[in-house]
Amino acid sequence: MAEVKIVGLTKYFGDTCAVNHLDLVVKDGDLVVLLGPSGCGKTTTMRCVAGLERPTYGDIYIGERRVNDLEPRERDVALVFQSYALYPHFTAFDNIAYPLRLRKTPKEEINRRVTDVAELLGITHTLERQPGLCSGGEQQRIALGRAIVREPVVFLMDEPLSNIDALLRVYMRAEIKRLQHELGTTMIYVTHDQVEAMTMADMIAVMNQGTLQQLGTPGDIYDVPANNFVARFVGSTPMNFIPGRLRQKDSQTVHESDQFVIPVGEEMAVRASEMCPDGKCTLGIRPEDIRFTMSDEGRNQAQVFLLEPLGSETILDIEKEGLLLKAKDVATTQIRPGNTLSLSFDRFHLFDDATGQAIR
Ligand SMILES: Nc1ncnc2c1ncn2[C@@H]1O[C@H](COP(=O)(O)OP(=O)(O)O)[C@@H](O)[C@H]1O
Ligand SMILES: [Mg+2]
Repeated sequence: MAEVKIVGLTKYFGDTCAVNHLDLVVKDGDLVVLLGPSGCGKTTTMRCVAGLERPTYGDIYIGERRVNDLEPRERDVALVFQSYALYPHFTAFDNIAYPLRLRKTPKEEINRRVTDVAELLGITHTLERQPGLCSGGEQQRIALGRAIVREPVVFLMDEPLSNIDALLRVYMRAEIKRLQHELGTTMIYVTHDQVEAMTMADMIAVMNQGTLQQLGTPGDIYDVPANNFVARFVGSTPMNFIPGRLRQKDSQTVHESDQFVIPVGEEMAVRASEMCPDGKCTLGIRPEDIRFTMSDEGRNQAQVFLLEPLGSETILDIEKEGLLLKAKDVATTQIRPGNTLSLSFDRFHLFDDATGQAIR
């Protein structure tokens, strides 16, 4: 078991900067998710930690050891990739046993450890089968078994669930989290799926274009996004953005857009005048934070043009002079397309247009 420390990691492929000065500490026993869009440098980061790529700059520590110059097999990490790379002609048992045989582990110990791991993963019944005769979920568990059986100090998982169907994925992500928790092994888990990240992580590291955008708990990432990229990327019904500027109006600071005038609290107004002197900023508000009443009165009115029933709740699609917003209501909503709503915005974020940084 060990902490993983990544210091100033930079990786170039020719002119492409895949990872740009990444600093990240994964505490011993934590599950940290690297989250970001395709091409943002997640896999490259993992391959550098695993020893499959050499950093252009920067250092990687596993526990007390600087591992830059160690071979992959000397690093004591286990990797699980998107493609499980099981040996098709081996049985599940032999696939799981493979890393132990490489290390010349005694036969009885192999039997015991493979049996234990198979039981932990619920795949005892597959042990005599070849992977081709197992379901996708079973194959994924066999690949996990092969990683676990080595008892590595760190698990590195790179989108391990992206090849299995959506329903099974929901179960497997809980299972991986439970396993990680039970084994207490440090894990770095890569995904581009923000729901997977939110549900699994102790800490989420959001990346974009090779750069760390924010490191925080799932709660922080959702409630206190550091910038408009993080705000946009996280949230299954995305945050609404209203471009505009800050103005003084009746001795109060307001965010004024083509559509709305929204009062800004005093504290936020002070911070905004420091961080965003030209006043140009975008207001971000999550769908569940838009409050509304069915009313033709009040200054911030808008029209509902579509309902999206999701079973447990309903998304209201609202329009005001070319600006589209999404709000949330209960499944049994009385609201209908064509209704006029009076909106209020109490809990929101402001993002400086010049830098994209959250004002707070
Ligand atoms: N072996 C390679 N050679 C050249 N460019 C690469 C190589 N591996 C990755 N890249 C580039 O580095 C960037 C980051 O890639 P990657 O780490 O695979 O992103 P992610 O896993 O987040 O999708 C991309 O622009 C990708 O094209
Ligand atoms: Mg990748």
